[in-house]
Amino acid sequence: MKRTHHCGQLRSSDVGKSVALIGWVDSIRDHGGILFIDLRDREGLTQVKANPNSDDADFNAAINSLKPESVAEFHGEVEAREEGTINAKMPTGEIEVQARSVVVHNISETPPFPIEDDKGDKVNEDLRLRYRYLDLRRNKMSKVVRMRHNTTKAIRDYMDGEGFVDVETPILFKSTPEGAREYLVPSRINPGEFYALPQSPQQFKQMLMVAGVERYYQVARCFRDEDLRADRQMEFTQLDIELSFIDREDMYALIEGLMKKIWKDVLDMEIEAPFPRMSFQDAMDRYGVDKPDTRFGLELNDFSETFAKSSFKVFQATIAKGGVVKAFKAPTLADVTQGEMKHLEETAKSLGAKGLAFIKVAEGGEWKSPIVKFFSEEEKAALNEKLGLEEGDIVFFAASKWEEACAILGRIRLECAELLKKRARLEIPKDQFNFLWVVDFPLMSYDDEAGRYVATHHPFTAPVAEDVQYLDSDPKRVRGQHYDLVLNGVELGGGSIRIHQRAVQQKVFEDVLKIPADVVKERFGYMLEAFKYGAPPHGGIAFGLDRLVMILAGLSSIRDVIAFPKTQKGQCLMTDSPTPVTAKQLKDLHIDTVVLDEES
Ligand code: AMO
Ligand code: AMP
Repeated sequence: MKRTHHCGQLRSSDVGKSVALIGWVDSIRDHGGILFIDLRDREGLTQVKANPNSDDADFNAAINSLKPESVAEFHGEVEAREEGTINAKMPTGEIEVQARSVVVHNISETPPFPIEDDKGDKVNEDLRLRYRYLDLRRNKMSKVVRMRHNTTKAIRDYMDGEGFVDVETPILFKSTPEGAREYLVPSRINPGEFYALPQSPQQFKQMLMVAGVERYYQVARCFRDEDLRADRQMEFTQLDIELSFIDREDMYALIEGLMKKIWKDVLDMEIEAPFPRMSFQDAMDRYGVDKPDTRFGLELNDFSETFAKSSFKVFQATIAKGGVVKAFKAPTLADVTQGEMKHLEETAKSLGAKGLAFIKVAEGGEWKSPIVKFFSEEEKAALNEKLGLEEGDIVFFAASKWEEACAILGRIRLECAELLKKRARLEIPKDQFNFLWVVDFPLMSYDDEAGRYVATHHPFTAPVAEDVQYLDSDPKRVRGQHYDLVLNGVELGGGSIRIHQRAVQQKVFEDVLKIPADVVKERFGYMLEAFKYGAPPHGGIAFGLDRLVMILAGLSSIRDVIAFPKTQKGQCLMTDSPTPVTAKQLKDLHIDTVVLDEES
């Protein structure tokens, strides 16, 4: 069983050759006594011509038994297609193979959905996931599988060239409940004790720096028990990186080189570096989010000064309490429908807004709005001056605490962009890639629920040197040496320069984050101990590989770039997991289960 060519390979220069092809029957067309069989393998399609009424009865029977998705091997001669039957859209469209013999390796039943790009896309996703092995046969999907391989190959080539060492770290880790919820794994040989699956190799990679590895990377599987979304899986892959003796600038240069290499190798595209940088404060102020999509404007403005003494009480009172009034203009979107408006309001409310005030600029420049009647002439003039309002525009307002007002309008901004796209008034080229470093995040943010500061990223991030003095007096003011790489509004990766001094790390754990000393000792004791023995200055970053490939492939769900993803409900429909286990298995693990109802 040896093929001479793959199914995307033969050209008119091969005419006359004797060849063997093997693959799946993509389609069969009966042209009155001659069968045209499109044979498919992962490289492409070739048309095979077969006569089911030949002198060879076995051959005829075999040919007649074929059904789509059967696996067959053809031996025959390459012929030029007749004028008029040439298919310019197919790379192999100038030739066909006249079948001399056939081996049928497997007859397929009718698949539950068509193995075609366009029709397959419309198939219910659950069905595609249940028969993932069929879904992956589709050209689109098989291309993505290989694009993912090309991406990791580019990464490995680049990292190797930069002197990085690939080190594997444990999957059975220890529970360190900060950050996302963890998956626990019971230990049979230590009754009542559990491992946790790693949310990332963070602590191990820092230990590798203490171990003198200097430059580590890993394509690492991570596990987080979070609510799943289009860009979030419970099990995902990071490109994880850590290196010693560097500062933030070294990191930016390293990663910009990596992205250039990936875009060149995978998409054959040159991308511009260095990437622009934006502070967290600016990102929130202008885009209402810490991962701004800068491919379009619709930037937010602050009108707190304008409305500080307004007779519109909602605005005035919010500002008096220390909040802000923010607004942005969506040009030409005054024709937003009632349904769309309702949806925008619901979005705003889901983020804590009490309402979503707006002004529509109607024909003749008249402002239509439930709130302008409260505005003074100066207030109107200030709005007009900053926003430059024209007929057909709409302005949205949010009055709230700064973070909340930013977040609300940040989301409304994205939804408005979608509405503008739908109306063909905003076009974003497919090959536009806006990389952006977001920097100067606060090291800590106050968690109202917990009543204490929590690490914005993780507790190992080093404070910006000149801000260390405020660690005790004004923790909010301390910026972290953290950086996020954002691409087209997606957080691709993030990392930081780490704390490498034991005293500083202990202070952050105990004095700033107020983690009790015994808990620190139990969870992070080994780390503090390691830092006693010569920890080098170090820093790192991790990228969501799934998200990276999703963007490279121009897709909008990471499920489409993972061979065997989980559904929103965390199930693998192909293997049907998770499942109950036997009483014996549980007993071995010293576990008893009681299903609690929602209330308890
Ligand atoms: P962080 O938690 O920001 O950092 O994760 C790094 C990147 O991983 C991706 N990511 C995810 N992708 C898919 N599904 C998920 N559930 C998911 N969660 C995160 C994102 C994100 O930017 N150890 C630190 C990095 C460091 O400091 O070096 C870390 O894990 O693209
Ligand atoms: P009210 O005076 O509460 O009826 O609100 C008048 C208008 O302002 C309505 O369109 C509300 O949706 C809107 N609104 C109320 N509170 C806010 C707020 N905090 N931010 C933005 N708009 C608001």
